[in-house]
Amino acid sequence: MKKIVVLILALVLGANLYAQKFEGLALTPPMGWNSWNYFRDKINEDVIKQIADAMVATGLSDAGYEYINLDDCWQIGRDEKGYIVVDSINFPSGMKALADYVHSRGLKFGLYSCAGEMTCMKRPGGRGYEFQDAWTYAQWGVDYLKYDFCFHGTQDSRASYKTMRDALYRAGRPIVFSICEWGSTEPWLWAGEMGHLYRTTIDIMDCADCRLSTGARGWMNILEEQVPIWTYNGPGHWNDPDMLEVGNGGLSMLENKSHFTMWCMLSAPLILGNDLRAMETDILKILENEDLIAIDQDPMGKSAFRYIKDEDIDIWCKQLTGNRWAVAILNRSEYERPYKCEWNIRAMTRYFEDWENKGDYKIWNVWDKKKMGTTADDLEGTLSGRDVLLLVLESN
Ligand code: GLA
Repeated sequence: MKKIVVLILALVLGANLYAQKFEGLALTPPMGWNSWNYFRDKINEDVIKQIADAMVATGLSDAGYEYINLDDCWQIGRDEKGYIVVDSINFPSGMKALADYVHSRGLKFGLYSCAGEMTCMKRPGGRGYEFQDAWTYAQWGVDYLKYDFCFHGTQDSRASYKTMRDALYRAGRPIVFSICEWGSTEPWLWAGEMGHLYRTTIDIMDCADCRLSTGARGWMNILEEQVPIWTYNGPGHWNDPDMLEVGNGGLSMLENKSHFTMWCMLSAPLILGNDLRAMETDILKILENEDLIAIDQDPMGKSAFRYIKDEDIDIWCKQLTGNRWAVAILNRSEYERPYKCEWNIRAMTRYFEDWENKGDYKIWNVWDKKKMGTTADDLEGTLSGRDVLLLVLESN
């Protein structure tokens, strides 16, 4: 009898030992690059290596971007023992060699798979092979795993992601776990226990305001969906409104600037989705703006909330460390529009914890790098179509 109790205890304790995620891996939103938005299935090891080189050469790695993530279409089957088989035409050197290359550039390597039987591009998924795959990824030196939810049948999302979380933990290599069930089962309510970031919407595409029949949509449409869930993210568990489309052709320069600004206001993971090998200087300037990145990466890890929605103008407020806060005034329309900010500080900061009202605040225009008076006076002006004014307020 005693022996049975001890055995049961050992089994329960043993199981619990692995029932967790790696803590401390994403205390600020992850920053990196992913192949999907620009390259789709036209991806191979040379491109990944060139992107890693460009990440370093452009200075983006110095600005904080560290992950090089290979999305769907690297896998073609399973061998007779069930191990995942890499497409040897596009990745002839294999994944370990590719991960080694990325590491040799001082960067980290990410991979994609899916909780269903197949990935969204009908490559082999992870269902039933979770522990074997997690072990394989650990051997290859993977640092980040994006795990999709196509072809999941009747599988429960929480159970699926929990299995993979436990498998990764058991494999022993700290891997950032990026959950991608597109917000379909309200992951903001449960996925923080499973992974480090979780998609909150269906796929983004390179437009500001549009929707395809597939469900893919523009960044302003996605922004709208973040309004009710802004409280859920924080250090170690981030709402993921999807990868950036900055620099991907379908956006005007002002739309690129506003898309990046609003993702920083949301404390979104900053996963670039453009071709880093061929970027316009103005795009690079947006992506490596250190003041914007500091707002995204503020250690407090708070998302902005929408304070005002007028017909065409939004005002969003985000708490920052040091008794500071960021305000973004966004013109959602395509045309020039007037804006007015009346600095009702009590209302604008009503959700801020540990925040002390110190009267009037100095206003700093982040993009233009200039002072704009104080909150003693209303702030009025006009904004071009789809432009944004980003301000940081600091006590006088
Ligand atoms: C889904 C995901 C995308 C991408 C593709 C790959 O659509 O949401 O981000 O990973 O699958 O097939």
